[in-house]
Amino acid sequence: MSGSLLLLPFLVRLDGRPHADWQQFLGRFHPLIVHVPIGLLVLVPLLEISGVFRPALREAAEFVLALAFISCLGALTLGFLLAYGSGDTGTGVTHHMWGGIALSITVLLCLLARPWWLLGNETRLYPATLAAMLLVLLWTAHQGGSLTHGNNYLTEYMPVSLKRWVALGNLQANTPGADTFYARHINPILDANCVACHGEGKVKGGLRMDSYELLMKGGKDGPVIVSGHPERSLLLERVTLPADHKQFMPAEGRPPLKPEEIAWLKAWVQQGASPTATTLKGIFIQENAKEAPLKPVGDYSGMMSEILQMESGQGAKLLPVSSKPSDGLILNTVDVAASFGDVQLAQFQKFSPYIVEAELGRTAVTNASFDTLSKFSHLRALHLEGTAVTGEGLMKLAPLSQLTYLNLSGTKVTAAAVAPLDSMKSLRHVYLYNTPAQPATAADSITQPIAKTAQ
Ligand code: HEC
Repeated sequence: MSGSLLLLPFLVRLDGRPHADWQQFLGRFHPLIVHVPIGLLVLVPLLEISGVFRPALREAAEFVLALAFISCLGALTLGFLLAYGSGDTGTGVTHHMWGGIALSITVLLCLLARPWWLLGNETRLYPATLAAMLLVLLWTAHQGGSLTHGNNYLTEYMPVSLKRWVALGNLQANTPGADTFYARHINPILDANCVACHGEGKVKGGLRMDSYELLMKGGKDGPVIVSGHPERSLLLERVTLPADHKQFMPAEGRPPLKPEEIAWLKAWVQQGASPTATTLKGIFIQENAKEAPLKPVGDYSGMMSEILQMESGQGAKLLPVSSKPSDGLILNTVDVAASFGDVQLAQFQKFSPYIVEAELGRTAVTNASFDTLSKFSHLRALHLEGTAVTGEGLMKLAPLSQLTYLNLSGTKVTAAAVAPLDSMKSLRHVYLYNTPAQPATAADSITQPIAKTAQ
């Protein structure tokens, strides 16, 4: 009977399809039950050793070992039901399964070798088998842990020096094929959100997404991508279902894909799901925006009294970024936002060589301030969210070569007004949430150019 259990994987193939619910129901007790044999098996060598001083303990060892063997078979059965019932396959699953089988066999060998050892024959065989059993136990438990927690669970927070020492340093996922749209955008989305369940180690639904070929091959229900037809592609159907739908992906309550990620996937499928295309029509991602070398900020410490005077007269503040004057100042208007307008901003112009960030969100500034702002030559971040600016004159900001962040969310800027921002090479983050310029839905952004990454 126990022998036939060990043959189970040969009799019933893991075919990557979910089977009866009762199998999954029982199978899900595997992670719980599996701790019984682990506990018992670790106890065995302890009992044998302490048996040197207390013979009664050594007598107990045999009983514990037998119990462990029975619980091993139980855990093995439940584990198999779990994998078969849920349709899990993959090297991680098979490694763990063969580990469990090997463990059961070594436990059986321990049981067989032990009587000889007690009689004083073959005194080394039992201790050796016991040691081997513990090693198999360790390996199998680790495989199981990787399945539930992911491969890098143990090493994720390992100190870097130790990682390097055990040569894990270069195990970071690298994207193949370098410069194609697939390699730069599609593969990373799938890698971060799907491959944990659809990769080499674990293959849910018979679908792997860790390479272009495997992705195109599809899953248990056939191809998941139909080139040119996002609306007929199962992959897109699954990621755009309502998040509480049983078939929604990523499964098990993981965070949904971001709207722009879905837009990229859709556009990529629409335009042929090519492994070699480098760009897609209508999709603009300013990913290689190059931050210009930082212009050093002059020392403002000589102007402190003037700065303080300005602050007390005005209410807006100039806060140092850090204790180093060369890191610059932040113009902070939060306490006086409602009364801080174009005139007030103009008064700060003389400090502009020191201001690296201007927090003008929800102030009363208007388009008229673009003139003033164009002289803030060291500006790296500009907050204009919730202001009355409409984008007219926005391109006066073009000479700001240090500007990498521009927030226009909640303003009335239009797509036409922000389109020329594409020419500002250092500008990496443009926020257009809740503006007429924001693509209304993820789908629209395929046909309309997204100015930078609209969020
Ligand atoms: C937590 C695990 C998990 C994650 C993460 C996950 N999936 Fe799945 N996926 C499953 C399971 C389980 C199935 C099989 C059951 C089913 O079809 O719903 C499946 C099935 C699928 C199928 C159907 C395959 C077929 O041929 O029937 C598609 C398509 C799919 N997933 C896409 C994705 C995409 C895209 C992502 C990432 C955005 C993702 N999955 C992330 C667990 C997961």
